[in-house]
Amino acid sequence: MFWPTSILVLLHLTRGNSPCFGRSLGISPSRTQFFKRESLTLCCGADERIMTNSKSACSQKIHECNIKLAGVHHSGSYWCDSNSGERGEAVNITVTEGSVILESPVHPVPEGTSVTLRCKSSNQSVVTPINQSYTFSRDGRLIGVGLTGEMSFAAVNRSHEGLYTCTFSGVESPGSWLAVRGELCLVSTW
Ligand SMILES: *[C@@H]1O[C@H](CO)[C@@H](O)[C@H](O)[C@H]1NC(C)=O
Ligand SMILES: *[C@@H]1O[C@H](CO)[C@@H](O)[C@H](O)[C@H]1NC(C)=O
Ligand SMILES: *[C@@H]1O[C@H](CO)[C@@H](O)[C@H](O)[C@H]1NC(C)=O
Ligand SMILES: *[C@@H]1O[C@H](CO)[C@@H](O)[C@H](O)[C@H]1NC(C)=O
Repeated sequence: MFWPTSILVLLHLTRGNSPCFGRSLGISPSRTQFFKRESLTLCCGADERIMTNSKSACSQKIHECNIKLAGVHHSGSYWCDSNSGERGEAVNITVTEGSVILESPVHPVPEGTSVTLRCKSSNQSVVTPINQSYTFSRDGRLIGVGLTGEMSFAAVNRSHEGLYTCTFSGVESPGSWLAVRGELCLVSTW
């Protein structure tokens, strides 16, 4: 009697945390930028379909899709369509041939939330980061320089919205849009 209960509880917790359990497009790992040849999973609700304007095969028929080897042709907008034709919010995914990516929230974040941006390099030949190895920019303007690849905002507001990029050792990531939502919008949307 002990095991079945534990397994049910575990299943429940796992599903609750799954990115595929919400109403908007889920991405695992949870970011919008990927290196070539990475693996990622996209998903919509069970009664929805994945839609995209990219050349990805992840479209229309299915609600969950695993991309085993990401390629540049997977870059583009992705969203979920419900059976009744309702269109979910689009997420832009970028697969880069470059060696630096920026990790930022996949979906708009509510005002007041803390947000951490992470700059990642795939370049194994870069050893110890030195001072000012990383830079972060918003709308093309430098907003932070550091030794670590992280930049955090304790409580975001509308002024944090914009197109973010980072660099590591002078190599720039693609850009990602950070959207901040007012609390009033949040109630009506969710
Ligand atoms: C990797 O880093 C090394 C040393 O900084 C640099 O010479 C090389 O161009 C980098 N390679 C890529 C693909 O970024
Ligand atoms: C790193 O930067 C800090 C602040 O700008 C400075 O105080 C420190 O001396 C620098 N360290 C090195 C090794 O350059
Ligand atoms: C938004 O956040 C920034 C940085 O924390 C702060 O300087 C600014 O006053 C805030 N703006 C509003 C309208 O709250
Ligand atoms: C997504 O990409 C499209 C086409 O490049 C662009 O028009 C749109 O503003 C982007 N949306 C976001 C949220 O970045």
